[in-house]
Amino acid sequence: MLRRTILAAGLSLFAVASAAETAPADDGRWPRVESRVPRDPAIEARIDELLAQMSVQQKVAQVVQPDIASITPEQYARYRFGSILAGGNSDPGGVPTAPAAEWLALADRFWDASMTGDGPHIPVMWGIDAVHGHANVVGATIFPQNIGLGATRDPDLIRRIGEVTAIEMRVTGIDWDFSPTLAVARDDRWGRSFESFSENPELVRAYAGAMIEGLQGRPGTPDFLGPAHVIATAKHFVGDGGTDGGRDQGDNLSSPAELRDIHGAGYPPAIEAGVQAIMASFSSVRGRKVHGDRDLLTGVLREQVGFDGLVVGDWNAHGQVEGCTNTSCPQSFNAGLDMFMAPDSWQGLYDNTLAQVRSGEIPMARLDEAVRRILRVKLRARLFDQPRPSERPYAGRFDLLGAPEHRAVARQAVRESLVLLKNQGHILPLRPNLRVLVAGDGADNIPKQAGGWTITWQGTGVTNADFPNAQSIWSGIEETVRAAGGQATLSVDGSFTERPDVAIVVFGENPYAEFVGDRRTLEYNPADDSDLRLLRRLKEQGIPVVSIFLSGRPLWVNPHLNGSDAFVAAFLPGSEGGGIADVIFANPDGSVRHDFRGRLSFSWPRRPDQTALNIGDPDYDPLFAFGYGLGYADNGDLPRLPEERPVEAGLPEGVFFGRGALPAGWRLATEGAVMLRNIDRRAQEDSRLATWRGAGTLAIRTDRPVDISREATGELSLVFEYRVDAVPSAPVSLRLGAAAIPIAGELRAAPAGEWRTLVMPLRCFARAGAAMDAATPPFVIESAGALTLALSDVRIASAAVDQNHCARP
Ligand code: BGC
Ligand code: BGC
Repeated sequence: MLRRTILAAGLSLFAVASAAETAPADDGRWPRVESRVPRDPAIEARIDELLAQMSVQQKVAQVVQPDIASITPEQYARYRFGSILAGGNSDPGGVPTAPAAEWLALADRFWDASMTGDGPHIPVMWGIDAVHGHANVVGATIFPQNIGLGATRDPDLIRRIGEVTAIEMRVTGIDWDFSPTLAVARDDRWGRSFESFSENPELVRAYAGAMIEGLQGRPGTPDFLGPAHVIATAKHFVGDGGTDGGRDQGDNLSSPAELRDIHGAGYPPAIEAGVQAIMASFSSVRGRKVHGDRDLLTGVLREQVGFDGLVVGDWNAHGQVEGCTNTSCPQSFNAGLDMFMAPDSWQGLYDNTLAQVRSGEIPMARLDEAVRRILRVKLRARLFDQPRPSERPYAGRFDLLGAPEHRAVARQAVRESLVLLKNQGHILPLRPNLRVLVAGDGADNIPKQAGGWTITWQGTGVTNADFPNAQSIWSGIEETVRAAGGQATLSVDGSFTERPDVAIVVFGENPYAEFVGDRRTLEYNPADDSDLRLLRRLKEQGIPVVSIFLSGRPLWVNPHLNGSDAFVAAFLPGSEGGGIADVIFANPDGSVRHDFRGRLSFSWPRRPDQTALNIGDPDYDPLFAFGYGLGYADNGDLPRLPEERPVEAGLPEGVFFGRGALPAGWRLATEGAVMLRNIDRRAQEDSRLATWRGAGTLAIRTDRPVDISREATGELSLVFEYRVDAVPSAPVSLRLGAAAIPIAGELRAAPAGEWRTLVMPLRCFARAGAAMDAATPPFVIESAGALTLALSDVRIASAAVDQNHCARP
């Protein structure tokens, strides 16, 4: 009964049929699209002139895009590459929190370098992932991640967000945004689900043009790619959201018609709206890497749909094409890629591509075609007519980063994105003049409310202090309650001295990006039930509990729903935590200030194994259907939900041990004179004490080999916490396959009895000769003599930038 009501609500709120239902049986040909940006004969003539003047070296340089972390402006000047990028972990001077002025100064240095030397001077174009605002840069306005924007059902707001993002990028002199993501995420285990507006292709279709128009301006007006706008990129073409098992960079097994109608839905409207760049996907379609797929990159995009902008690659993704390496991939270029994203591989890739052009392996006509598309985009963006980045309109207007009028747009987006899932006995809205306890580790935690792609790639390693123009959820509540004469107290662990009238608990997923966020099931936080215990403790004391759940996707939270009187899915709201108080609190007289208007853009699972759960599925059985979302007038009562979960096994998520047992299929193994016992650190038996009486090894093992090559190139590290109880008497090393890295020095230097963190970048093992594609086990400590070491929280994770080095003391 409950189920039927929810389902009906979902369908009426966003009435669409599934693409699978309506797709005719066909060969998967795509529709031809008329871009609203017509071919300009003057621009084409200018390109002919430029091409005639360019040397082959200059042409090859146009098609290679290095990353600012791996090239200096001086090195760049020798080649004058067509573009540079700043990846998620790349910042001026290598400092993630570098001030905006340094971004702008660096933009000038690369631009200056592009405007020197022989042949025509072709201005550089700088790309960045401003995927929820210009969030790499400290102080920028940070919008809700796309999943939350999907819940707003408000394309005009999406356009406005694009406009604000473009202006803030312009402040720092950056021309090109790697956004919007048009993925249609179909299996929410995927670590990039939050970058997807929706599982529903109709919603992605409805947003694509709006975001692109916001970023680039309206075609046919002087605004289009004018001084207040930037070049947009539709990504990742195509099928990124539909990989088997939700594996990032995995294989999409859809039929050609499904690929077009579900995963490709956003591209025709994006092209029609005039998008100038499309990024190829890391993933494969039916076993073939998109980066090497001529049928898709040329057949579909160019010949069928008629796209005439540029196709850029993804981060060394060409290196995954069969027969390619990061520094050589004529296959990808010949298949239709126009620009290689070659962050650290640019030198070898440039040399090899040049040689391949000279040998004819890459036809000159193909090179000319790619350069033509790149120049077309640069000319449409009027890059040739513009002065140095710092002399352009908006540049250096640092007051515009996080400007009040920009933050107001973000706050509106937060309000509109919140989805109310439960409201037992109409407990919400709350009167603001109450005594309010605010608990949970997400309450006063801006990095956690912002998610991945925020200042750093993973969104980790930063604190509230790194967000000068942002407000935490707690701070917004406190402001509202104080203004009304109530009393709010922050208590992360939920303890209190004065009994509160209500508790608001803010909890959820910690930040992640890309494959780091891939999960095995949709169970929220299987290794750690501390949030649930917090909810239950408060309820047992008779305190009404309002949960604010931060997450990058729907997760199985039945126990948490049972433990809450009201439950709000807030997704990853970004810098404007105050938007939450705007909605959950009433006016002092009890009247509604802002009603909930967010509607789920993803189906919410009834069980943790409902990983691919999408509107239109033949046996669709969600807990909350696509389109669900209560308003204050609705009856928000929920019956008690089942809490059993299916038993599952597989690869560990995040933590191997610490906060609970080892994941299924993994074990701790010792060899030689090592003794092991469980000890308590933060919780009962969450850590191990290893005592070496002589030579021996401690390892975390599984029976399957684990391929961690992607983690190694993604700059992830082996991280663990340790306490030295008896210093080593002989050499100690961390081993991975054939590589052993000595750590006795570091252990000896550690203050006795104190917990410390050891970070060993995986690439250090690769450098020392380990084969990452068959690395098992990933954690081995070898000691040649006596040593006593307490260990906890062993994991593969991204480390703070200052810990990211191989040299040991
Ligand atoms: C991601 C892209 C991103 C690029 C540059 C890749 O790893 O898949 O979405 O635009 O890096 O940071
Ligand atoms: C990301 C980049 C990031 C890099 C870190 C890539 O996969 O897309 O943006 O900076 O990994 O190594």
